[in-house]
Amino acid sequence: MSQDSAPTADPLQEIEATTADADAGLAAVTNADELEAFRIQFLGTKGRVKGLMKLLGKVPGDQKKAVGQGVNALQKRLQSAFEEKKQALTAGATEAADAIDVTEPGVAPPVGNLHLLLRTADELTDLFGRMGFDVASGPEVEDEFHNFVALNIPEQHPARDPLDNFYLADPPEGRDEKHLRLLRTQTSTVQIRVMQTQPPPIRVVIPGRVYRPDTHDDTHLSMFHQLEALVVDENVTMVDLKSTITQFVHAYFGPETKMRFRASFFPFTEPSAEVDVFFEDKQQWIELGGCGMVHPNVLTACGIDPTKYSGWAFGFGIERIAMRKYGIPNIRLFIENDVRFLRQF
Ligand code: DAH
Repeated sequence: MSQDSAPTADPLQEIEATTADADAGLAAVTNADELEAFRIQFLGTKGRVKGLMKLLGKVPGDQKKAVGQGVNALQKRLQSAFEEKKQALTAGATEAADAIDVTEPGVAPPVGNLHLLLRTADELTDLFGRMGFDVASGPEVEDEFHNFVALNIPEQHPARDPLDNFYLADPPEGRDEKHLRLLRTQTSTVQIRVMQTQPPPIRVVIPGRVYRPDTHDDTHLSMFHQLEALVVDENVTMVDLKSTITQFVHAYFGPETKMRFRASFFPFTEPSAEVDVFFEDKQQWIELGGCGMVHPNVLTACGIDPTKYSGWAFGFGIERIAMRKYGIPNIRLFIENDVRFLRQF
């Protein structure tokens, strides 16, 4: 029925027909354009409701009231149905805007990474692997034989002072107090275990955790990590030791790195030295650890003939190495586990 169509005989019937058409029309509306077309058709200035209002003038007096009320009610009804539909369509549009856009690049989930110390240990064993070294390991709870006796550290040596070691309260089953166990203070213990089980030639590195009741400061913790190295073969000399360590320092920290060997003393090496690397960030030397030619007593304790074989060894702090490599000012950062620190590596 068009808006210009001639009035039917009965205006009330015409109102009813318009109502039915409008209901059906609105139900079919699915978007804003169709809704606007509906509004123009029924509620516009030339729309069907306006057409019905014009009819009023021609309606006989006794019907005027009923027709007038009918048209008003129809207009109100369509107006509110129109508003309702409009809101429903807008809400739909917002929902659509909120919907997932599957073509949008995703937000990457956070991915964990190796702790810097593990990574450094891996880098070191890789590097020494390329220089022909195998990797060995040993227990963190040790006996006095491996931690001291076999390493030429006699009973009265100050290193065995209970105040300088984490002794366990219980002697191992069936043994007396002379065989106390302790948390190892050095990875040198594993040198003994390797030499006891493997004939020369030996060429190993040993990354591991060690424990000492040290006072904590910027470079000391009571638990830290060492990288031990041991080479035993015929005709091994101090030249091999110095050249291997120098090669390592230059390969790992860069060829320009300033380093020095300082004469030192360890019961299990003779001669002994300490290795320092210059820490540019702090403008000071940082001590990586000790090294030396394996003492003949140590070889003998492990059943290796010192007249036939010689060896060299070192034990460096992995934290120290990582501090120098990555410019880390304080050793405590390794154990605080602040992800803002850890994520940088
Ligand atoms: N074990 C020594 C320490 O913890 C470091 C060390 C010195 C290891 C000399 C060695 C070595 O293998 O030859 O202080």
